[in-house]
Amino acid sequence: MKKYFEYIKPQIPKMSFGLFIKFIGTIMDLLLPWILAFMIDDVVPTKNKSNIIFWGCMMVLFSILAVTANIVANRMASRVAMNTTQKIRYDLFKKILYLSCKQIDDFTIPSLESRLTTDTYNLHQMTGSMQRLGVRAPILLIGGIIITLSLDPILSLTLISVLPIIGYTVYKISKKGIPLYTEQQKATDNMVRVVRENAVGVRIIRALSKSDFEQQRFDSVNNEVTGKETKASVIMAISNPLMNLFFYLGLTMVILVGAFRVNSGFTQAGTIIAFLTYFTIILNAMLSITRMFVMLSKAIASAKRINEVLTAEEDLKMYPIDHVDNDYHIEFNNVSFSYNKKQNNVDDISFKLKKGETLGIIGATGCGKSTIINLLIRFYDPDKGQIRINGDNINSIPFNKLHSKFGIVFQNDILFADSIGENISFGRKLPNEEIEKAAEFAQAKLFIDDLEEGYSYNLTSKGTNISGGQKQRLLISRAIASNPEILILDDSSSALDYKTDAEFRKVLLNNYKDTTTIIIAQRISSIRNADLIIVMDEGKIIVMGKHSDLIKDCTLYKQISDSQMGEKQYE
Ligand SMILES: Nc1ncnc2c1ncn2[C@@H]1O[C@H](COP(=O)(O)OP(=O)(O)O)[C@@H](O)[C@H]1O
Ligand SMILES: [Mg+2]
Repeated sequence: MKKYFEYIKPQIPKMSFGLFIKFIGTIMDLLLPWILAFMIDDVVPTKNKSNIIFWGCMMVLFSILAVTANIVANRMASRVAMNTTQKIRYDLFKKILYLSCKQIDDFTIPSLESRLTTDTYNLHQMTGSMQRLGVRAPILLIGGIIITLSLDPILSLTLISVLPIIGYTVYKISKKGIPLYTEQQKATDNMVRVVRENAVGVRIIRALSKSDFEQQRFDSVNNEVTGKETKASVIMAISNPLMNLFFYLGLTMVILVGAFRVNSGFTQAGTIIAFLTYFTIILNAMLSITRMFVMLSKAIASAKRINEVLTAEEDLKMYPIDHVDNDYHIEFNNVSFSYNKKQNNVDDISFKLKKGETLGIIGATGCGKSTIINLLIRFYDPDKGQIRINGDNINSIPFNKLHSKFGIVFQNDILFADSIGENISFGRKLPNEEIEKAAEFAQAKLFIDDLEEGYSYNLTSKGTNISGGQKQRLLISRAIASNPEILILDDSSSALDYKTDAEFRKVLLNNYKDTTTIIIAQRISSIRNADLIIVMDEGKIIVMGKHSDLIKDCTLYKQISDSQMGEKQYE
């Protein structure tokens, strides 16, 4: 919540002004029943026409003022709430972009999504209603009590005796409600995760006829959310009927006591009418305060969740310069790393590449190939060993400098809902010639030229309106477009046909001589010309060397090669 107040601070002038208007409007509202009582008891009996008209006009004027002030103040409140949450959402989004991969793994993406949406919405609701009701409700409550006391103290005591019971109920309910809302939010995160997985995997789910299974899985998380929600709202829902009960109880008592007092001549009819109005005002104010408690409890839970992200410490620190003189471009020295810090996902990896050389990595799924890439681009820090680029430990290279060295196609990489040209340029404002050259090199030119709109052709989100192979060619265009110092292709050849793959390798050989390239592949044909080939298994390097040596010395490599013989014709 402390952090929240920092966001509210710049809005204080606007907010204070709005609250001041609200204050005036509320006072008017509060005075109206009093004027009514005064008219009935003191002005009307005099039968003085001009006096009656004067006070009547005053009442109309006060009502108009009260309504106008309320509307103006409410609009200002909305604006303050909007500005505050917009800033919070902006900062939150920015922070999420800079979270390390490990932090994103820990928070989980659905949870980050709901923090960005539901939680900021809860803050928005609370900021708005606090301004609308935060001043108004207490003034109506306290002012109402003071005025009724001045009108008839005995009647007021009747009314006031009900209030502590109501206050206690409100307190008890809210105290129970707050943890329930936190739990409900957690369940919602879980549901969002399942929906997300399904939305992403909808094709495979249909293809494998897993719809029923997924439906059941969704039902179970959906039921959990509903259960938690019901529990939270049942607790909160008790409050309204209970309030009503107290309200009518109080009202009955006021009428009974009031009738008795009018009969005995202690008080007048106008006072009783005003009293009944004040009683409604006071009770409504109490109800508003309950509602604020509910919103506040939700917002506190949300603020906490947002705060966790905003205050997450920088995970990947910048270390002091650590340089060794050697003529290697990329160097891994005994690098080990584990995602969950239990079992190493890559173990004691060492290799060296000179500038312009090509490394091929091959191995079964899950053996740690992509993890090597994640470490090289410093998505994670190794637990042991060092990684150097041009002799500099990568943990001492500023991120923008480090990342500008790479052109990468990730495994399962994505395209964005934008034009083909923009997807290749990717915010780097590359000139058209460079975009077209990259497309040509990546063997994408042919199919782009076939499109009526060419480079302006708009892709749908994740590029679902082009084929897998075409997608891969655009991803490769994007990676090579800025002539990177280091090019990484994680399993990008498997979506290409053998011929295109071979053509593309020829381009790399002829046009990207100075680019150090790392190719992760399933097929030996994709990496057979590499300067160094690493064969991996369960996080370890089993063997490394050139194709000609491996085919002689490594039975596993020879087996893989033999099983892929059919591709030979394209070599
Ligand atoms: N973000 C992650 N969190 C936890 N474990 C992971 C993560 N990414 C990969 N792993 C695990 O690390 C191992 C190596 O994964 P990866 O490097 O992606 O394999 P490959 O690219 O060779 O198929 C696998 O067992 C995988 O389950
Ligand atoms: Mg992989």
